[in-house]
Amino acid sequence: MPESVEVLISVVRVPPSSIITAVQQQDYSASVWLRRRDKLEHSQQKCIVIFALVCCFAVLVALIFSAVDIWGEDEDGITEENCSKDCRVVLVENIPEDISFLNNSTSHLPLSIGLYNLLNQAIRVVEIVSPQWLLNSSDNESSFQPGRALLSSLQGLKARGIQLKISSGIANSTELSKLNAEVHYINMAALTKGNLHSSFWVVDRKHFYIGSASMDWRSLATRKELGVLVYNCSCLALDLHKVFSLYWGLQYKDFIPSFWSKRLFAVSNRDTPLNLTINGTKALAYVSSSPDVFIPKHRSSDLEAIARVIQDANHFIYISITDYLPLMGRNTSRLEYWSRIDSLIREALILRNVRVRLLISCSEKTHPLTFNFVWSLRSLCMEQANCSLEAVSSGGQRDVSLEGINHNRFMVTDRAIYLGNLDWEGEEFTFNAGAGLVISKLEDIDDRNFTVVEQLQAAFERDWFSQYTIPLQANKFLVCNKHQIKPMVLLKPTACEQTGGTSAYVATVATSGIQYSARTGYHTP
Ligand SMILES: *[C@@H]1O[C@H](CO)[C@@H](O)[C@H](O)[C@H]1NC(C)=O
Ligand SMILES: *[C@@H]1O[C@H](CO)[C@@H](O)[C@H](O)[C@H]1NC(C)=O
Ligand SMILES: *[C@@H]1O[C@H](CO)[C@@H](O)[C@H](O)[C@H]1NC(C)=O
Ligand SMILES: *[C@@H]1O[C@H](CO)[C@@H](O)[C@H](O)[C@H]1NC(C)=O
Ligand SMILES: *[C@@H]1O[C@H](CO)[C@@H](O)[C@H](O)[C@H]1NC(C)=O
Ligand SMILES: *[C@@H]1O[C@H](CO)[C@@H](O)[C@H](O)[C@H]1NC(C)=O
Ligand SMILES: *[C@@H]1O[C@H](CO)[C@@H](O)[C@H](O)[C@H]1NC(C)=O
Ligand SMILES: *[C@@H]1O[C@H](CO)[C@@H](O)[C@H](O)[C@H]1NC(C)=O
Ligand SMILES: *[C@@H]1O[C@H](CO)[C@@H](O)[C@H](O)[C@H]1NC(C)=O
Ligand SMILES: *[C@@H]1O[C@H](CO)[C@@H](O)[C@H](O)[C@H]1NC(C)=O
Ligand SMILES: *[C@@H]1O[C@H](CO)[C@@H](O)[C@H](O)[C@H]1NC(C)=O
Ligand SMILES: *[C@@H]1O[C@H](CO)[C@@H](O)[C@H](O)[C@H]1NC(C)=O
Repeated sequence: MPESVEVLISVVRVPPSSIITAVQQQDYSASVWLRRRDKLEHSQQKCIVIFALVCCFAVLVALIFSAVDIWGEDEDGITEENCSKDCRVVLVENIPEDISFLNNSTSHLPLSIGLYNLLNQAIRVVEIVSPQWLLNSSDNESSFQPGRALLSSLQGLKARGIQLKISSGIANSTELSKLNAEVHYINMAALTKGNLHSSFWVVDRKHFYIGSASMDWRSLATRKELGVLVYNCSCLALDLHKVFSLYWGLQYKDFIPSFWSKRLFAVSNRDTPLNLTINGTKALAYVSSSPDVFIPKHRSSDLEAIARVIQDANHFIYISITDYLPLMGRNTSRLEYWSRIDSLIREALILRNVRVRLLISCSEKTHPLTFNFVWSLRSLCMEQANCSLEAVSSGGQRDVSLEGINHNRFMVTDRAIYLGNLDWEGEEFTFNAGAGLVISKLEDIDDRNFTVVEQLQAAFERDWFSQYTIPLQANKFLVCNKHQIKPMVLLKPTACEQTGGTSAYVATVATSGIQYSARTGYHTP
C-alpha cells in the first residue's frame, strides 16, 4: 500500500504555522491519492473485466468447437416459414408371404414398393438411418431377393447424381462400405451406452419414411412391418432431417456436446404441433425422438409423445408392439420396475374407462415376465364397469426361430396415431436412439373422414381378429421362450414331490404338444 505511506509523509511535512495550507495540502494530497486510487481501481477493474471477457471468449470458443459439427447442413431453401404443409400420407406394410388374412381384404402398399417409389422421387439427397444393414445376407437364398433389389437401387443413386447419406451405429459393416454412400459412424456405446435404433429415410427434405422396418432383408421378407410414407411435406421432413443432422454431426464423437446448434431445434412438438393438410384433411403432427440426452430445445421425447397420445384418447387405445416390458435392466442382474408407460395405461383403464388392446409378439426374445405385467393390467379391470383390457399375442403358431411375425411398433387411438422405432421397455427409451411420428385429428373433424387414423385402426383390427393371434386366457399361460422358462411364468403347480426333508413344486407347461418342466422352488415343511 505505497499510497497510504505517501499520505502519512505529507501530514508530517506540514509546517505548524499554516494550518490552512496544511489542511489544503492535506486535502490536495488526499485528493491526489484518491484520484490515484480511483485510477488504480479503474485499471484493476478494467483488468478484471478484460480477463473475464477473455475467459468467457475462451469458454465460448471451446463450446463452439465442441458443437461446431453439430451445426447442421445448409437447409437449401426450405425454411420453417416457406415449407410445404399440404402432405400426402401412404401407409406401407410388409406382410410375409406365408401369412394370409383369410377373410379380410384390408391391405396397404407393400413396403418394398413404397420405398422404391420414395427413391424415385429423389432429386438431390437421400438420408437414411437404420439400426441394421443386412439387406444382402440371408441363410435362405430364396427369401432375400427384395433386400438385394433394394440394395442395388440404393447403389444406383450415385449414377443418378443423388447423394446418399447414412448415419450408422455399426462401425465396420461390409454392406455399407459397398454402398457408394457417405457414411457417418455414431458411437452410441460411448455416447449413451445404448444402440442406434432409429429407422427412417428423409428424401430431399421433402418426403420421408418412418416405421418399424430397418434395412434388413427380413424387414422386406419374413417380418411383419408397418410404416408410413409422407410425400410433399417439407415442414415435417425438415423436422425429421434435423434429427438426422444431429446423428450426422455426432460422427466419431465420444461425448455429447454441451449445447446443440439452433439449427437442430425442433420445428414442432407436442405443445406446438404443425397444422398440416393430410390427403386433403386438416391434421396436427409432430416428430419426437429419444433418448433425452439427444434432445435439443423444443423437441418432445418419444415418451412425452406416447403419454400425450394415451392421455388424449377418449374411447380406445390399440397398441401393436414387439415387446411390452415395464422393466429396466433387462440384460443385467438388477431388474427395476419402470412405470412410465404402464402407469399411463392403468390411468386410462381405471380412471377414464378407455378400452385398451395390447397386441404383443410372442417370440424367442420375449421376456418371460411380459405376460405377468399384462395380466396385472387385466386384473385391474376385475369388477370394474366399462373397464376393458384385452391382450393377444401374435406369432405363437409360427416357428419361433423366425423371431415372431409381428415387428410392428405403433399405437392408434380414436384421436391419433403414434409410429415409433423403439420397443416399449425401459432400456430402449433411456439409452437407445429412436424417432417417432404423431399425427392427430383436429377436434372438429368428422370422425369417419380421417383416413390415416382409420386405416391404421383397420390394420390393427385385421391383425387382432386374425388366426395368427392367441388371446390371453385365464388359466392358460403362454410360453414364448422355450429355452428360458423361469419360475415366474409357471402359474399352476401340478404335482408335489417329497425329496428328503424338503418339498419341491414341479410345474409343467405345454406348448405345441411338448412338455417342459421346471422346479419352481423349495421349502422345508
Ligand atoms: C424459402 O425462403 C428462402 C429464404 O428465406 C429462399 O431462399 C427459398 O428459395 C424459399 N424456398 C421456397 C421453396 O420457396
Ligand atoms: C377386415 O377387418 C376390418 C377390421 O376389423 C373390418 O373393418 C373390415 O370390414 C374387414 N373386411 C372384411 C372384408 O372382412
Ligand atoms: C451380396 O452378396 C453376394 C453374394 O454373397 C455378393 O456377390 C455381392 O457382392 C454382395 N453385394 C453387396 C453389395 O454386398
Ligand atoms: C426358404 O424360404 C422359402 C420360401 O420363402 C421356404 O419355403 C423355405 O423353407 C426356406 N428355407 C429355409 C431353410 O428356411
Ligand atoms: C465388426 O466388429 C465387431 C466387433 O467390433 C465384430 O464382432 C464383427 O464381427 C465385425 N464385423 C465385420 C463385418 O467385420
Ligand atoms: C407433390 O406435389 C407436386 C406439386 O405440388 C406434385 O406434382 C406431385 O405429384 C406431388 N407428389 C406426390 C408424391 O404427391
Ligand atoms: C392450428 O390450427 C388450430 C385450429 O385450427 C389453431 O388453433 C392453431 O392456432 C393453429 N396453429 C398454428 C401454428 O397455426
Ligand atoms: C358404461 O358404459 C355405458 C354405455 O357406454 C354407460 O351407459 C354407463 O353409464 C357406463 N358406466 C360407467 C360406470 O361409466
Ligand atoms: C438385451 O439383449 C438382447 C439379446 O441379447 C438384445 O437383443 C437387446 O438389444 C438387449 N437390450 C438392450 C437394451 O441392450
Ligand atoms: C368427408 O368425406 C366425404 C366423402 O368422402 C366428403 O364429401 C366430405 O367433404 C368430407 N368432410 C370433410 C370435413 O372433410
Ligand atoms: C392418400 O392419398 C393417396 C393417393 O393420393 C392414397 O394412396 C393414400 O392411401 C391416401 N392415404 C390415406 C391415409 O388416406
Ligand atoms: C373371419 O371374420 C370373422 C368376423 O368378421 C371372424 O370372426 C373370424 O375369426 C374370421 N376368420 C378368420 C380365419 O380370420
